[in-house]
Amino acid sequence: YFTRFMASTAIALSATFISVGMADAKNFKIAVGDSGGSSQEATGVAFVQALEELSGGAHTATLFLNGQLGSEQDTVNEAAIGTLDMSILAINNVTPFSPTVGVFSLPYVILSLEDAEKLTQGPIGQELTENTIEDAGVRIIAWTYTGFRRLTNSKKPVTSVADLQGLVIRVPKNEIMIDTYKAWGISPTPMAWSETFAGLQTGVVDGQDNPYTTINAMKFYEVQKYVTNIRYIFSIEPLIISEQVFQELSAEDQQTVLDAGKAATAASAQFLRDKEAEIKQILLDEGMEISDPENNEEEFIKLATEAVWPKFYDSIGGIEKMNAVLAEIGRAPV
Ligand code: MLT
Repeated sequence: YFTRFMASTAIALSATFISVGMADAKNFKIAVGDSGGSSQEATGVAFVQALEELSGGAHTATLFLNGQLGSEQDTVNEAAIGTLDMSILAINNVTPFSPTVGVFSLPYVILSLEDAEKLTQGPIGQELTENTIEDAGVRIIAWTYTGFRRLTNSKKPVTSVADLQGLVIRVPKNEIMIDTYKAWGISPTPMAWSETFAGLQTGVVDGQDNPYTTINAMKFYEVQKYVTNIRYIFSIEPLIISEQVFQELSAEDQQTVLDAGKAATAASAQFLRDKEAEIKQILLDEGMEISDPENNEEEFIKLATEAVWPKFYDSIGGIEKMNAVLAEIGRAPV
């Protein structure tokens, strides 16, 4: 009798445990724009690991790589209405929904990983996170640091603005980036990220820009030959959660998600520090030719900052905001 009693109690207890666990257990779906080996994936993996650890195994998340869940811009819409939990995407693909984050894509504002960490993790980052919740219905919970966006093309080495003329360059659907190429004298082709590899492969476009890590993860060396080390944008790729999904979590789970996001941000900076040089070497081994812009990029910098910065002061929150950003990274005001 005793054994039977124990056995049935154990079954009852475990049933209670399982049902409580199941009611709370979450498996968040995370859309990822890039493929395996990308810094986006590194952030995602670190987030999942931290989430599992911090929740004592109660919660997990699954990454859907390579734009399987839609273009990066589409995932913002999906998260806003709560049909997608989370997405990791380039900040330039959030800007159309929340213009103040555009400050991160203004050419030659962020000049190092340290600048990027300061801006995203300090008061400016906090303010932009709040704006994004309000404007786009998504909350930034982690930051990916992917490095400078380098120009690639299939046609010729480019070291000057003059070399760029005649090339058809794909850009994200982002006004700041479109205007930057216009300042350099060409009219770029806006195209969703999920269509870019095919665009390069079929020759609809000759080139594009993205960091070494992304170029490598996406195997762009198969369809691109020349890399120019421009530094006009330091790529920042947030992990966003649907605000609706976030608000449905208990206070404790919200904190767990935020803490897992912090851990993922730290892991991302480490990934870049550890891997960028190694990944650049892979591109060379794959046959890419990498060159530096002439005169320390002077002409690219002058044309872009003079034409583009003033045009976007209003959309990023005014010239005072621009100066607050510059002050935070130790730069002179405009
Ligand atoms: C883009 O160029 O649209 C993005 O930077 C791509 C990415 O998410 O890596």
